[in-house]
Amino acid sequence: MPLLCAASLLGIFTYVSAVSIAPGRVTVLDGIPYYIGGVPVSQLLDVPASSLDANLPDVDVIPMTVVSSHTETFTGKELNDIVSDYISRDDVFSSAFLNGKSLDHALPVGPYFLSAKTGQVFKAHRLYEDTQYAFLEPAVSDEKGGYSPLSTTTGTILGNSVAVPSRLYFTVTAEQPLAGLRMGVKDIFDVNGLRTSGGNRAYYTLYEPRNATGTAIQRLIDHGAVFVGKMGTVQFANGDRPTADWVDFHCPFNPRGDGYLQPSGSSTGPGAGVAAYDWLDIAVGSDTGGSMRGPAGADGLFGNRPTTGAVSLDNVIPLCDGLDTAGVFARSADTWARVVHSWYLDYEGGYYSYPKTLLYQDSSFTAEAINNSDASVLIEDFVSKLEKFLETNRTHIDIIATWNTTRAPDAPSSLSDMLQYTYGTLVSVYQWLHLGVSFFNDYAAKHDGRTPFMNPSAGGRWILGQRLGEAQFDIAWNNKTIFADWWNSDDGLGAKSNETCSQAIYTYPNSAGAVSYRNEYLGTISGKTEYIPVTMSLVAARGCDLMLANMVREMEADGILTPVATGSTMYP
Ligand SMILES: *[C@@H]1O[C@H](CO)[C@@H](O)[C@H](O)[C@H]1NC(C)=O
Ligand SMILES: *[C@@H]1O[C@H](CO)[C@@H](O)[C@H](O)[C@H]1NC(C)=O
Ligand SMILES: *[C@@H]1O[C@H](CO)[C@@H](O)[C@H](O)[C@H]1NC(C)=O
Ligand SMILES: *[C@@H]1O[C@H](CO)[C@@H](O)[C@H](O)[C@H]1NC(C)=O
Ligand SMILES: *[C@@H]1O[C@H](CO)[C@@H](O)[C@H](O)[C@H]1NC(C)=O
Ligand SMILES: *[C@@H]1O[C@H](CO)[C@@H](O)[C@H](O)[C@H]1NC(C)=O
Repeated sequence: MPLLCAASLLGIFTYVSAVSIAPGRVTVLDGIPYYIGGVPVSQLLDVPASSLDANLPDVDVIPMTVVSSHTETFTGKELNDIVSDYISRDDVFSSAFLNGKSLDHALPVGPYFLSAKTGQVFKAHRLYEDTQYAFLEPAVSDEKGGYSPLSTTTGTILGNSVAVPSRLYFTVTAEQPLAGLRMGVKDIFDVNGLRTSGGNRAYYTLYEPRNATGTAIQRLIDHGAVFVGKMGTVQFANGDRPTADWVDFHCPFNPRGDGYLQPSGSSTGPGAGVAAYDWLDIAVGSDTGGSMRGPAGADGLFGNRPTTGAVSLDNVIPLCDGLDTAGVFARSADTWARVVHSWYLDYEGGYYSYPKTLLYQDSSFTAEAINNSDASVLIEDFVSKLEKFLETNRTHIDIIATWNTTRAPDAPSSLSDMLQYTYGTLVSVYQWLHLGVSFFNDYAAKHDGRTPFMNPSAGGRWILGQRLGEAQFDIAWNNKTIFADWWNSDDGLGAKSNETCSQAIYTYPNSAGAVSYRNEYLGTISGKTEYIPVTMSLVAARGCDLMLANMVREMEADGILTPVATGSTMYP
């Protein structure tokens, strides 16, 4: 199959010399900034470098495009069709990358940069400004399975640059179902070549760049996802509020409404980024006690807390092993379901009939609980459509009453007393013992006995963890186990079923349009009517993540769910 390399001599070139984290440069074509990859991906074989060099004394790189043709004689019409197709599918390619010279060297189709001096070919990335502060460390591939911090920038005080490679380089296949999906990752997951910050400056500085990518992120990359950088997190995946609690790094901005609503957390950057940027497709976060569910609600996105153990969490900063999970944000049910299917590989994915029981806890839907009559209407409309979809009527439940009548004989009588301190105890003690102790010791050893700075909320948790200690952890773990055993039992609300995986779907409002501003002062900011996300939770039995993914995807195909847009409103 002949390949054509087209090189243009047009374009304005400006260079920013690289502070050597990763080599690479910025150039501007037709007013759009591009990042020229620092690592060559090919070499021009059949054009003497000197001939190009002579024509271009001041110019080192030339934009070019690799196209693939099925015909022997390549026509202008064919090229025009290819160009129209590329422009419709990709935001990196533009006509600035065009003109003709032949090349017999296999590369994925798409725009590249060619060095006139060396004949080396580099990937083309478009640079976007991270105006929401969603990213902590944008990164680029080192072309050897690792990543380097993005070394060049066109950012302003409103945000740093993120480099995204051309979408044309990637083709979806059976082995790579996620090919080309641009992915950001919460900065608690290790990625080979990058430091991990956990949202803490002292922690970022103290440890060397990681030499391995953990299973959860590597699996998505192996399936084709394109990693573009590390994203903001509440410190060490704990919970807190902007802006007072985010001392070490500024809290990412939720784009919804007037742009000053709380973004929730702790997967704050991943949620804010997917809700704001069309050029970012998915972002990975974690959920221990709501860190995916909170941002999905605040930012109006599809997102999940999976079954614990759905994917290994090696090389991830732990909050509490056994409760920690990795989830993903997307703007459509279809994309979200695609990622889930190629991520949680231990689960059965072939469920195409869904539970006939829809659990509805009345107290979650009262006017007092929702506290927003517009949201109440939307929520009731959704539940009615869900009833039709499942061909059932809701089953009214009272979780406390069910506990009272079906709990194990020796289980505590009051569910709320049993669970009151459970979560706080588990995460505080576990993270202090499994992260805090070694971090504080390593920091002290390097800094003459000093203690690192901790944001108030995460720091407070660790003080609590030291006070409670392992004995309280064991009690809390026991309480948690009593609850989980009941919930998962045949009498519980998370019972399994052979036909539909889960006996029931339990639904409740996840976010109901409550106004909560990031600066904690009450009152409006824009002085206009703004629209705030209303979102629903769907819960199924353990291990039924893929059944739920199929169900949600089908609900989107049926028009019950709709993909959301980026920006101020989900449905502009
Ligand atoms: C990677 O880093 C770990 C932890 O710092 C170290 O134990 C291991 O030897 C390193 N592996 C390689 C291949 O460098
Ligand atoms: C209900 O909403 C109003 C504003 O619409 C707010 O002032 C009030 O605090 C909310 N109540 C609760 C219980 O959240
Ligand atoms: C739901 O309830 C309505 C009215 O009570 C009834 O007519 C209908 O048959 C029920 N549907 C199912 C699927 O049970
Ligand atoms: C459940 O049991 C507790 C403790 O015995 C009791 O206080 C509560 O009223 C009961 N609630 C329901 C809904 O049965
Ligand atoms: C565990 O449950 C007992 C019984 O309900 C309760 O008194 C205690 O506070 C709980 N402790 C923790 C740490 O969850
Ligand atoms: C579900 O399948 C398992 C294993 O095939 C079987 O033992 C069990 O009886 C089935 N349960 C029901 C409710 O059909």
